[in-house]
Amino acid sequence: MTIKQRKTEWDEAAEWWDREAGEKGIWHQQHDIDPVMFKILRNVNNKIILEIGCGNGYFARKLAKKGAKVLGVDLSKKFIAFAIEREKLKPLGIKYLVRDVANLRSLKSKSFDCAVANMCLMDIADMEGAIREVSRVLKKNGRFVFSITHPVFDNFRQQWTVIKDEGKKYFARAIYKYLSSGGESKILWASGVKTTVYHRPIETYFKYLRNSGFLIDEFREVATKKKVTKATEERGDIKLRRSKYTTLAEKKMKELAGKEIPLFLVVGALKIR
Ligand SMILES: C[S@@+](CC[C@H](N)C(=O)[O-])C[C@H]1O[C@@H](n2cnc3c(N)ncnc32)[C@H](O)[C@@H]1O
Repeated sequence: MTIKQRKTEWDEAAEWWDREAGEKGIWHQQHDIDPVMFKILRNVNNKIILEIGCGNGYFARKLAKKGAKVLGVDLSKKFIAFAIEREKLKPLGIKYLVRDVANLRSLKSKSFDCAVANMCLMDIADMEGAIREVSRVLKKNGRFVFSITHPVFDNFRQQWTVIKDEGKKYFARAIYKYLSSGGESKILWASGVKTTVYHRPIETYFKYLRNSGFLIDEFREVATKKKVTKATEERGDIKLRRSKYTTLAEKKMKELAGKEIPLFLVVGALKIR
């Protein structure tokens, strides 16, 4: 897939995404991911921060409200246009650029205290190049904090299923492929738009981080706080969705799966060389 095709996909997703994310991010970011991101980021006041794959800039705005000086970059012109529009409405001093994060040539080396990637590394085709560029623009002892869908349980190659263990039923993730890296697959968003994602096993993330001079100093596997709610026929709820139940036994199974299966990973890495 060419870079032009990837740009087009994200441009097509941007309008719906901007509405969904708004000023707070999507549900999982508000409730599951962002609180952990901020814990790992620690104090951002007066820090110079680069956000890669910033989308409509909602996270950049959260950082700026905590006193950070933020530059947001994204491949999609449309996403950056929404981010700039929101900056004009409520100025926070955030700058935005349209860039492929694997090529940040116009940004000076060793110029940021911190870099952030919120739910986007799995969408970036050249993730190795992206991590290399992030490392280049970070100062020594700078930190890179990112969140991703948990590669072991991500929903691109796996699905929910019901299994039996010692006579008891469990709601589980069915995994048939994990170690092979790099394959493209599509996510279909509620808006009907599809975007491309790239599955990589955890060891690939480690390898690229280490090769670019990072030492991982935080590693959190994040389960969802989302409650399971009763399925209704009118809404056409699908039985195998984790968030919907029809019987009380199913509710219990799904609640356990929600607590035990982390859907997201949040990682902090220190640039040591
Ligand atoms: C799932 S969205 C997340 C957006 C935002 N971080 C958020 O949480 O709302 C992934 C973002 O990564 C961006 N992206 C994908 N490939 C990129 C690349 N090579 N360089 C910069 N941004 C990229 C997309 O345009 C999109 O905005």
